[in-house]
Amino acid sequence: MNQAETIDGKAIAARITDALVGKCAAYKNAVGAPPCLAVVLVGDDPASAVYVRNKGKTAKKIGFQSIQETLPGDASERDVVDIVDKLNADKTVNGILVQLPLPQQVDEDKIIELVDPEKDVDGFHPINVGRLGAGALEKALIPCTPAGSVLLAKEALGDLTGRHAVIIGRSNIVGKPAAQLFLAENCTVTIAHSRTRDLPALARDADILVAAVGRPEMVKGDWVKPGACVIDVGINRVDAPEKGAGKTKLVGDVDFAAASKIAGFITPVPGGVGPMTIAMLMQNTLTAAMRQNGVTLD
Ligand code: GUN
Repeated sequence: MNQAETIDGKAIAARITDALVGKCAAYKNAVGAPPCLAVVLVGDDPASAVYVRNKGKTAKKIGFQSIQETLPGDASERDVVDIVDKLNADKTVNGILVQLPLPQQVDEDKIIELVDPEKDVDGFHPINVGRLGAGALEKALIPCTPAGSVLLAKEALGDLTGRHAVIIGRSNIVGKPAAQLFLAENCTVTIAHSRTRDLPALARDADILVAAVGRPEMVKGDWVKPGACVIDVGINRVDAPEKGAGKTKLVGDVDFAAASKIAGFITPVPGGVGPMTIAMLMQNTLTAAMRQNGVTLD
């Protein structure tokens, strides 16, 4: 029976962050201080707290300076604006990430547009969205999860030219930028979503199938073309009674057991796209710092 090769995102991410250690040291040599990443966390969403902690830990491991600004869940929009203004003005801060989602009293778009585009290591500012859309990747900061997804597909398949990439999900954070990045790799790109007709048939035409919908195990085995590369962006916490009463586990947007019998390559959850997102954030932080200070490293 076919068994897909599991793409080890954790190992590939570790390779990238390991390489950043030396680059960080070289940058520090040139500038006098390491790149500095500031993460803003508003409220006490447990998943966001875990992500933010992991980002800080990885930054420190590489040698970056890491700042965390934490505000309570009832912080006003003005409080968040003031923090972002302060980080924008601080020349020692090279990268700013405001963890999403923000509490409902804070306008997310307003905050995203306030972050200095040159420090926007999430790549969410309209200036960076525009640069990506215009194919000006060398000037843009690229959203981390889509960038990691494309790297994993390239690890599995090599050159992606001419392949059909079907992306299920049209979010600003993942689906739309992933489409732009696969297009930049010369793929033929289709964005599918909740209103797409006969999604299983469309998915079965994909050489690269990206699932980014946030619905546990929605993509079934018979949605996958034999030999395809499946990139599962979903991270969903679900009940796991088989582990004991009240226990939970993480699953992706893809039914892994079924899809791995058909696919050629597949990312696991956890250990696939997740670690790559953090690695790409670290890469963006160095890139932003180098551009701000006119540093080139060979
Ligand atoms: N929340 C979920 N994903 C992300 C992300 O990539 N960046 C930020 N800032 N918040 C998120």
